[in-house]
Amino acid sequence: MTQQIKSIADYHKAYQDSVTDPESFWAKQAESFTWKQKWDRVLEWNFEEPRVKWFEGGKLNITENCIDRHLADKADQVAILWEPNDPNQPNRSLTYQQLHDEVCKTANALKAHGVEKGDRVCFYMPMVPELAIGVLACARIGAVHSVVFAGFSASALADRIKDAACKMVICSDYNSRGPKFIPVKKVVDDALAMGCDSVETVLVHRNSNEPLDWNPAIDRWWHEEVDHQAAVCPAATMDAEDMLFILYTSGSTGKPKGVVHTCGGYMVFAEYSFRNVFQYETGDIYWCTADIGWITGHSYIVYGPLLAGATTLMFEGVPTYPDASRFWQVCQKHGVAQFYTAPTAIRALMAFGDQFVDSFDLDTLKVIGSVGEPINLEAWNWYNEKVGRKRVPIIDTWWQTETGGMMITPLPGITDTKPTYASYPLPGVQLELVDNEGRVIEGNDVEGLLCITFPWPSMLRTTYGDHERCRQTYFSTFPGKYFTGDGARRDEEGRYRIIGRVDDVINVSGHRMGTAEVENAINQHENVVESAVVGYPHDIKGQGIYAYVITQHPVADQDAFIREIKAVVTQVIGPIAKPDVIQVVSGLPKTRSGKIMRRILRKVASGDSSNLGDTSTLLNPEIVDELLKGAKP
Ligand code: PRX
Repeated sequence: MTQQIKSIADYHKAYQDSVTDPESFWAKQAESFTWKQKWDRVLEWNFEEPRVKWFEGGKLNITENCIDRHLADKADQVAILWEPNDPNQPNRSLTYQQLHDEVCKTANALKAHGVEKGDRVCFYMPMVPELAIGVLACARIGAVHSVVFAGFSASALADRIKDAACKMVICSDYNSRGPKFIPVKKVVDDALAMGCDSVETVLVHRNSNEPLDWNPAIDRWWHEEVDHQAAVCPAATMDAEDMLFILYTSGSTGKPKGVVHTCGGYMVFAEYSFRNVFQYETGDIYWCTADIGWITGHSYIVYGPLLAGATTLMFEGVPTYPDASRFWQVCQKHGVAQFYTAPTAIRALMAFGDQFVDSFDLDTLKVIGSVGEPINLEAWNWYNEKVGRKRVPIIDTWWQTETGGMMITPLPGITDTKPTYASYPLPGVQLELVDNEGRVIEGNDVEGLLCITFPWPSMLRTTYGDHERCRQTYFSTFPGKYFTGDGARRDEEGRYRIIGRVDDVINVSGHRMGTAEVENAINQHENVVESAVVGYPHDIKGQGIYAYVITQHPVADQDAFIREIKAVVTQVIGPIAKPDVIQVVSGLPKTRSGKIMRRILRKVASGDSSNLGDTSTLLNPEIVDELLKGAKP
């Protein structure tokens, strides 16, 4: 077990130790795991290339730490508890022993299909236990998983399959999500038709009895390939710095990039952060409502909880099905102790009214968490009063796909909480605020750009296939530091509050999106000459997507045009990227050098026409009036 922080004195000491002697600090945490061979060196790093290696020379397999080492005393404890979309369907559960057996069988099936150490395997699956099993099966044999959120379109999926040259795709036939029935494999078929030549096998998990188009050359049923396999599979010996997974995420430029995480450091930090931030105790039922298609699901549905020997609840459905009490009904039914969700869900449920939460018994809750976007005061208060009943601490956890694990968060019952503040850095996390020129902002009660100045074990190592892009994106803005892309405030007592992205990334319902990506999609409509996308404040989603569009020909039917634009974006990226507002304009405000003045676009989109700043230097100042007149509420 890694160190347990139980008091504020423990926290201060751990933080201090992690800064004065990071190598000893993390070596001590790492010693509690099963290593096939101990590391030679705890840390080697520079942020110039960047080059970061934790526990180099160490050999391990993360699944031995997630599963095998718990078999001695937890073989019959539930590892994964599954709650289906339809509350009238039975739960499924897998004990640690059963999880072991299923992971081994699946790993053997992967091997039988030629998947080898280092090969990439893409997952496009709903939230069924087989997704977690499949991911662990990859890790068992040293294959690299790349999970793609099953709400992405065929074209977005194809981009990701091609970028990582995946050998296998694992999917479901269909998916029930809320009231919807979604043809999942059809999306994979469409993606493969876009030329994913590397794919040799599509392994299909049966989730329904509906008929399915079948390509006998590459399609294989999960149950036919997996069920007869042996329930024993030796765990591949991995170097600490071997790749564990790739997860695609959006940035301000270009296509989504594949963030690469490696085995050793990720393992240590996922367990350490899970155990301390949730204050998990044996027997607790822990529930994170995220999807495994995002980093939160990787670190805090699968790896963190299983490494800690916890019972992790996995939910197939949505918060509003069959009605807006579903979360609380599930908490009551299973006696959930730690509950972790996103502000967008809190805001949506808040809007349905208190009657959906008030009647439920939530006495088992010990910790309630928030992640993915800034939580506004109203949502924080509602969460605190209605869900936490003013008794349960809220942990507002700030982190990113790139950080692999939580970076800034209160420790429940140990550090204080302050509404809308993610509060204090975890041990090992060294933060700095800088101004636009990179000058360090010292002291408290200040605001600046959030940087991390020292490596932490679960940080990204590269962006798949393009190390220079990793350097450029994260390490070049402020040389010698990792730049998060977020702005933050540090209060009088040193707590951090995340203000939001300062780059061209927007956060819509906790989904991270590059404005350039959405623009590229919109531009594929044949009547679009140019577009510009910005975020604007949205009551439920946090940020909504506002698109300004210049057309080649006048638009006769506005409603039809808007529908078409939404359809194009849905096709290119997925429904999560559909603009909320589309304004047809004759031009965009540009500087003399041709750069779009996004500041003005953001102001107009947020309905704020004050302080537009100096517009006289624009190439086309007259356009501002047109934008304001046509602005949509
Ligand atoms: O802007 C921050 C916001 O989400 C971004 C990271 O998104 P992603 O890589 O998709 O990971 C989300 C889940 C870890 C950050 O740059 N963000 C995340 N958590 C918070 C947050 N903003 C404010 N408060 C948070 N607790």
